[in-house]
Amino acid sequence: MNNSFTIAIDGPAASGKGTLARRLAEKYGFHHLDSGLTYRAVGHALLDAGLPLDSEDLAVIVAENLDLGKLDRTILSSHEIGNAASKVAVMSRVREVLVEVQREFARKEPGTVIDGRDIGTVVCPDANVKLYITASPEVRANRRYKEIIDSGGEADYEAILADIKIRDERDMSRKDSPLKPAEDAHLLDTTEMSIETAFQTALAIVEEEQNR
Ligand code: C5P
Repeated sequence: MNNSFTIAIDGPAASGKGTLARRLAEKYGFHHLDSGLTYRAVGHALLDAGLPLDSEDLAVIVAENLDLGKLDRTILSSHEIGNAASKVAVMSRVREVLVEVQREFARKEPGTVIDGRDIGTVVCPDANVKLYITASPEVRANRRYKEIIDSGGEADYEAILADIKIRDERDMSRKDSPLKPAEDAHLLDTTEMSIETAFQTALAIVEEEQNR
């Protein structure tokens, strides 16, 4: 046992869980880990080295050598790397290695916020607070589209929507640690919520759990 307070946040791509996780971490002075970046870093290293994405042995070696201090969101956020990440994420031995890295992170004091797909179900089943964030695929695609356009890039809404649906399907149907809410997770559907309302709602849930 240790004295760390853990907030686990799960949900599909572009549900807003990353923004909520960052804001909660900032509010409480907790460490934040976007666990998706660990899968992305493995996909990126394989792509970068020109190695195949379907060799579990190679992906495990890359995962074992992962340095959490070197996860760079700007490099890892591309669409191609996201796709590579969801391919290595179906490999059980890769997941085993990365789950251990994430559990170690969860022990940091005074507390941590970790977001991903299986944090409340597998990585931190004893988390103090579990949130499961969803929104319709259309709203998520639209948010991602706006994000890219606002940062000066070019985007195709239909292509983003199709990609989100493929990733949902891959994440929810995989045998090992599929994306689903933990039984004791608080569900937050942000389809018709602003990010501010979602944050205030999440905050109220955390405060309630802290006062238990
Ligand atoms: O959240 P993000 O889009 O960065 O995640 C990239 C991919 O990594 C996801 O599509 C998912 O397949 C995988 N992932 C996972 N478990 C996590 C976080 C991410 O399987 N805890």
